[in-house]
This record gives sequence, structure tokens and C-alpha cells, in this order.
Amino acid sequence: MPHLHLSKGRQRSLWSQIREFSHVARDWLRKVRRSARKALMVDEAAVALRRTGTFATAVPPEVYAVKGMLSHKERDMLYTLARDRFTGSGAVIDAGSLFGASTVSLAAGLADRQGADFIRPPLHSYDHFLINDYIRAFLLQELQIDRQVGDSFYDLYQRNIEPYRHLISLHRGDLLSQKWTADDIEILFLDVCKSPQLNSHVLQEFLPHLIPGLSVFVQQDYHHPHLPWIHVTMEALNRCFEVETESVEESILCRFVNPPTEEELDACITYSFSPTEQLALIDSAIERLAPQNRGCVALAKAILCLSLFGHAAAEKQLAELLSVYSEGNVPFRNWNVYVEQVRRRIAISNR
Ligand SMILES: C[S@@+](CC[C@H](N)C(=O)[O-])C[C@H]1O[C@@H](n2cnc3c(N)ncnc32)[C@H](O)[C@@H]1O
Repeated sequence: MPHLHLSKGRQRSLWSQIREFSHVARDWLRKVRRSARKALMVDEAAVALRRTGTFATAVPPEVYAVKGMLSHKERDMLYTLARDRFTGSGAVIDAGSLFGASTVSLAAGLADRQGADFIRPPLHSYDHFLINDYIRAFLLQELQIDRQVGDSFYDLYQRNIEPYRHLISLHRGDLLSQKWTADDIEILFLDVCKSPQLNSHVLQEFLPHLIPGLSVFVQQDYHHPHLPWIHVTMEALNRCFEVETESVEESILCRFVNPPTEEELDACITYSFSPTEQLALIDSAIERLAPQNRGCVALAKAILCLSLFGHAAAEKQLAELLSVYSEGNVPFRNWNVYVEQVRRRIAISNR
């Protein structure tokens, strides 16, 4: 090895060239990895899902055994995505796990998937496992368990997911204080965007890690009336998503196709939309859907009108939508319950 005598300045310039080269090489390797993943995508499964909106039929019974807030169809979807679509290129996120129904659906799919064993647990499960009024009532009705608001229900989750523990990396605690520090995300299942803050945090932490052309994104609260920030932000990012199945009961299933620009993402994270912009975004979200799938987002528009313009505007929107949608022409299992909830919220706001 020849011994080189270089001046300090020359050494510094050489190091900076090496560093620059290593960054170029790293970016190039990332691009190659991403194109290889795209080429390996299980496209037949994707096409079948998009066309029919139906999912695996031979779902193991454990998937339906856990009490939870997901329908059988939504569990079939999660199981199928994990079993047939997941390539192992990134992590799987289950944000909002409750008693583990979504966790077990995804984990069972991962366990039944053909392919190599996992080096690290691929499934990341997020929840603070704390009882609120809604969960308390659900627990009492479905499992006859009486707990107080603020108590933990972690024991129930733990028992349900036990057979799949080796596949799960658990993030217990307030999601608002959690950071995503790992690498790419291949399946992003969201059932936790219950406030604008949680929605912003999820977009900030997880969205930049989705893999264009490969990752799938499921928003469980899409066909739901109370969380209009979900429709506003998803519509603002609509060029990033290609809808695969508009409605799997309350969920929407999308493929992530384009990364957002910094400005687009920032506008969603800071929710910097004027009232007129929010209205235009939710209107365009409604129009994007097939007519039979518009009902619940139209209800969300009534809730948005209530928060932006008050009681009269919300009542007008509710009357208009009820003249178009009724139980017979919307496919949603909770339609009548949701209409009543919205009606009540609007009525209460006038007292
Ligand atoms: C509708 S439930 C999820 C249902 C679940 N995916 C299932 O399969 O039944 C929403 C979950 O989000 C959790 N959650 C709400 N706010 C949270 C927060 N700030 N941090 C962590 N988890 C939260 C709740 O504890 C609850 O379990």
C-alpha cells in the first residue's frame, strides 16, 4: 500500500468527495431497490382486489374470534393484504388496535404468507389501551366486562394476540408522543385518526415512509360521519393515492402512487385550509365516489358545516343529503345509527 502524503486541505477535499459519492451511491441503490420491488409486485392479486373488492375466503377462524370494531369483510381484507400482497419490503402498521382484532387479522395473514421467515417482527401495533366512554359501553355490551374510564384494557389485547406475539412490535402509549424511526412502510392501516391532531401526527410520521407504487393504505374511518378532517386531508393528497376499493364496509383501500410534495404534506399536517377550501375538498371527495358510496361522506360534510358555519348550514346539508340517501340505497351497515348521531349533534348545537 503506497504511503500518500497529502496536505490537510487536500485530505479535507478528498473526504468531502468521498462523502458526496457515498450519498449519490446510497440514493442510486435506494432507486434500484424500489424499482426491483415494483417489478416483484404481486400484481395479479392487486388487480383481483380492485376489480371485485372481495378478499380471501379461507380466512382462519381466529381472525373472527377477537371482539372488535371491524366487520368480517374488513378483517378478510387485512388478512388478504398481509398474506397475498405483502412483499416484505417494509413494515406493516396497525394504528389503533383496541382488543387486537385488526392486529390478529394482519398477523394471521403474515403467518400464512408464503416466503421467508421474518428477521424482525414486521407488524407494528399502536394503542394506549385506555378505556373511554365509548370503549366502556362496548366492553360491557359485547363482553360483559365492567371497567372504569381511564382503566387499562391491555390485558385483553395481550391475551388475544398471544399466538402472534413473535410477529408484533408493540408501541404502547399515546400515539401523539411516538415517532416512527424505522424504515419503509408497506401496509398502513389507520383506525386511530379520531382527532385532527392524531390525523396530523399520523400523516407526519408515517406518510413519508410509504413506498410509491407498492404500499397500501387503509383508512378505516372513511365511511364515517364524525371525522371530516380525514376526507379533507385525503382529498388534498388525492394525487398520492389510487383508490383500489372505495368501500370495504367503513374502510377505503388505496394504493400509494405518488409521494406528496413538502408543501402538500405540510398543508395537511398544519391543516391550513380555509373554510371554503375545506368545503371544496370534501365536495370533491364526495364526487370522486360512486353514487352509492357517497352517503357517509355526505354526513361528514354536515358535521364539517356544523363546525365551520353553524347549526343552520348543517341542518340544510343534512336535509339535502337525506333527500338523496336513505337506508335502501347506501351499503353501510351503520347508516341509520350514523344519521341519528348526526341529527343529535346538530340538534344539541342549537340549545
Ligand atoms: C376504533 S378503535 C380501533 C379498533 C380496532 N382496530 C379493531 O380492530 O377493533 C380506536 C383505537 O384507537 C386507540 N386510540 C385513540 N386515541 C389514541 C392515542 N392518542 N394513542 C394511542 N391509541 C389511541 C383507542 O384506544 C382504540 O383502541
